[in-house]
Amino acid sequence: SAQTIVVAIDGPAGSGKSSVSKAVARALGYGYLDTGAAYRALAWLVLEKGVDSEDADAVIAALDDFDYFIATNPDEYVVRVGETDVTEAIREPRVSAAVSAIARVPAVRSHLVELFRSIAAGVDAPGVVVEGRDITTVVAPDAPVRILLTASEEARMARRSAELQDDAAATAGAELKKRDQADSRVVDFLNAAEGVTTVDSTELNFAETVDAVITVIADTQSPVS
Ligand code: CDP
Ligand code: CDP
Repeated sequence: SAQTIVVAIDGPAGSGKSSVSKAVARALGYGYLDTGAAYRALAWLVLEKGVDSEDADAVIAALDDFDYFIATNPDEYVVRVGETDVTEAIREPRVSAAVSAIARVPAVRSHLVELFRSIAAGVDAPGVVVEGRDITTVVAPDAPVRILLTASEEARMARRSAELQDDAAATAGAELKKRDQADSRVVDFLNAAEGVTTVDSTELNFAETVDAVITVIADTQSPVS
């Protein structure tokens, strides 16, 4: 609806964007939109088609068959391309390895930015938490709440590693670093744009980070004059 408050959250991989945004949405009864899932789903489709992810023209052509669905209810997270449930598949390392090449194609970005705006506008809730890399700057620069969620590289690596087995953890750390480097050449998500509030979660646990974000949202709604 027209009154839906957009909470825009950007940050590097492992800063806690997805898990924190989902928890904030749940706590406030807001919708939740994971924009990285769309870049991942398109990367999945490109791999499925056997297209070279470095071939920008072929990637742009794949957009024609990109029938994308993502649930915006934080309690029912599901991602589909056409009839296929890709919720799990888009987290595979092969997708993580291909996604940055797809995300740097300008036609892909403009297509997905429009898609995100229309999904967010269709959310039937008092608010929607939209998270990614360029939400505060490109997708929703006029959002009333804009947050850059950061954490030291060490903390981010440790969090990602904690989710994996020892052998996978080392590879994942290297992959994450490489992906952040590639992504930050396209979108600046390491420095807060003007008017964006930085929440540094390095020293915060998960619950404290959720509270910090909820506090920023509350402060925006009843500003101290
Ligand atoms: O969760 P994680 O931080 O691993 O990544 P993600 O949020 O799922 O995003 C996957 C990839 O999509 C990123 O590495 C970027 O290449 C791209 N992305 C983007 O370019 N712009 C966004 N707003 C969100 C993601
Ligand atoms: O979406 P993004 O890549 O930014 O991060 P995530 O996948 O939401 O978070 C990575 C991991 O860090 C998750 O397992 C979170 O539970 C954890 N986390 C944490 O340990 N402490 C925080 N303050 C925030 C997140």
